[in-house]
Amino acid sequence: MALSQNRVPKVSVFLCFVALFLNSNGVWAQNSPVFACDVVKNPTLAGYAFCNKSLSVSARVADLVGRLTLQEKIGNLVNTASDVSRLGIPKYEWWSEALHGVSNVGPGTRFSSVVPSATSFPMPITIAASFNSTLFETIGRVVSTEARAMHNVGLAGLTYWSPNINIFRDPRWGRGQETPGEDPLLTSKYAAGYVRGLQQTDGGGDNLKVAACCKHYTAYDVDNWKGIQRYTFNAVVSQQDLDDTYNPPFKSCVIDGNVASVMCSYNQVNGKPTCADPDLLKGIIRDKWKLNGYIVSDCDSVDVLFKNQHYTKTPEEAAAKSIQAGLDLNCGNFLGRYTEGAVKQGLLDEASVTNAVSNNFATLMRLGFFDGDPSKQQYGNLGPKDVCTNANQELAREAARQGIVLLKNNKGSLPLNAKAIKSLAVIGPNANATRTMIGNYEGIPCKYTSPLQGLTALVPTSFAPGCPDVQCANAVLDDAKSVAASADATVIIVGANLAIEAESLDRINILLPGQQQLLVSEVASVSKGPVILVIMSGGGMDVSFAKTNDKISSILWVGYPGEAGGAAIADVIFGFHNPSKFSLFSVLCFQKRVKTSPYC
Ligand SMILES: *[C@@H]1O[C@H](CO)[C@@H](O)[C@H](O)[C@H]1NC(C)=O
Ligand SMILES: *[C@@H]1O[C@H](CO)[C@@H](O)[C@H](O)[C@H]1NC(C)=O
Ligand SMILES: *[C@@H]1O[C@H](CO)[C@@H](O)[C@H](O)[C@H]1NC(C)=O
Repeated sequence: MALSQNRVPKVSVFLCFVALFLNSNGVWAQNSPVFACDVVKNPTLAGYAFCNKSLSVSARVADLVGRLTLQEKIGNLVNTASDVSRLGIPKYEWWSEALHGVSNVGPGTRFSSVVPSATSFPMPITIAASFNSTLFETIGRVVSTEARAMHNVGLAGLTYWSPNINIFRDPRWGRGQETPGEDPLLTSKYAAGYVRGLQQTDGGGDNLKVAACCKHYTAYDVDNWKGIQRYTFNAVVSQQDLDDTYNPPFKSCVIDGNVASVMCSYNQVNGKPTCADPDLLKGIIRDKWKLNGYIVSDCDSVDVLFKNQHYTKTPEEAAAKSIQAGLDLNCGNFLGRYTEGAVKQGLLDEASVTNAVSNNFATLMRLGFFDGDPSKQQYGNLGPKDVCTNANQELAREAARQGIVLLKNNKGSLPLNAKAIKSLAVIGPNANATRTMIGNYEGIPCKYTSPLQGLTALVPTSFAPGCPDVQCANAVLDDAKSVAASADATVIIVGANLAIEAESLDRINILLPGQQQLLVSEVASVSKGPVILVIMSGGGMDVSFAKTNDKISSILWVGYPGEAGGAAIADVIFGFHNPSKFSLFSVLCFQKRVKTSPYC
């Protein structure tokens, strides 16, 4: 959910701009991270126990919260947390994202001339299709290295609200691309692996490289579908389905991944908003699974349960109920506005506020935020040179290769022999995709290799998009057909993008958009050589027409394959890498609850 933007007069926009780049001494400051306990600048801070690295996290947190007023505590229950300047604590922005690479979608992270881009891995739906836990963890380590490197130059936060491990039970869900898919076991392995990589606590102790967050707890997989809205949706789920399907990834994330955070969702489960359900939060996450970290709301779930769901009569009651249920941090400012009133009205005791804010501060302490200058700490040597390295970009390509799935291969028509192909027809609305390959919750990638570019690097190609865009209201058949008729082989790359499936945009069917199917069939019918159909989409596509068409020799599904996706597609088509093999249409049939497909 986009938080509402306040209208700001022009003059203050200008002042903010100046403040961003100049510190109080007028020195350019964009390259330094924020941190507390700067004992070099302010030696008196050394006397505070909360700044003392030799004490335990819990002792330091107890010392810190003991010094805070109720208002100061409440200022640290929200994502844009207030400073406590009298104690040398700066403002901290909790909201950063790293779904498949460092992202600038959250306000805590941005790119600049110092670090203009970061490695953009495939979307999790593609990474997970490798079924390779080592890969999940390896990618997490690289992403957190780039995140720390950006933090050290003041561009990135330490708390990342990734991964998304909801079960992709309905293939029409627009956010399914963000998830590892429908299978609870694979999603559990993905959660634990990616989180271990991001947090990298294996050096021992309680320290975190960055803090990950498993979201959105729980039973969330609809955004906006024929009038059903995630903000008001009540998921009616049996205890068995909760235990067998929706919750195992969260359990594995907390217990096996030792994640530092879980985010509750917008929807209700069995009539209760997840962010105000004490059984789901305190009962399961905190007491049963023993979360060591903080529970955060989606943006702005607490407001949603009051305003959209009318779950409580007053906003103070909503604040009290969510904190009592176990919520520690609010994305949004609802708790900032209504918690003090809740305490004054006797709906909430201050001890509950102290408990919540203690969980938040404990996480920041484990991240080194209260240990002074980050350049003097572990990971302090990371910087811009560690972002978009050749090795990191190569891992993005390797991840795409490992995730690509072979769905059909008549008479071994793949791989193609690069030496034997004098001309390759490259067709389809996603044939020269760049931005499409990195999906959502993206950053700015190091560079793109589109499918056309990847293939052109190996053989001579001729290109015809065949559709003006992925919606493909009117296919443009003539060029595409004439190119295919004279080429030694044809690659047709179709599918979706964020105009078809996205956050707030669920699909209403699982067919290829517009006239894409017509394009594929028409081009295949005139192609001289083998025809390789490539599906670039997050959600499953019903391509049963292509399964039964003998002119279509091979089908690959690539998901959204990341910045190097085109190179990986070329690697697979020309046999430099063996794709994962599934039985025909198993990707579709994974989505076994889709009654619209006769193949499942
Ligand atoms: C930090 O805590 C240790 C252990 O209690 C103590 O020995 C030391 O004096 C403390 N340092 C400061 C600067 O207070
Ligand atoms: C899993 O991924 C790692 C890291 O890329 C790779 O070294 C390994 O070979 C992969 N394992 C399999 C079975 O493909
Ligand atoms: C393919 O996309 C790239 C990047 O957007 C662009 O520069 C190039 O002109 C496109 N190629 C064709 C043949 O349209």
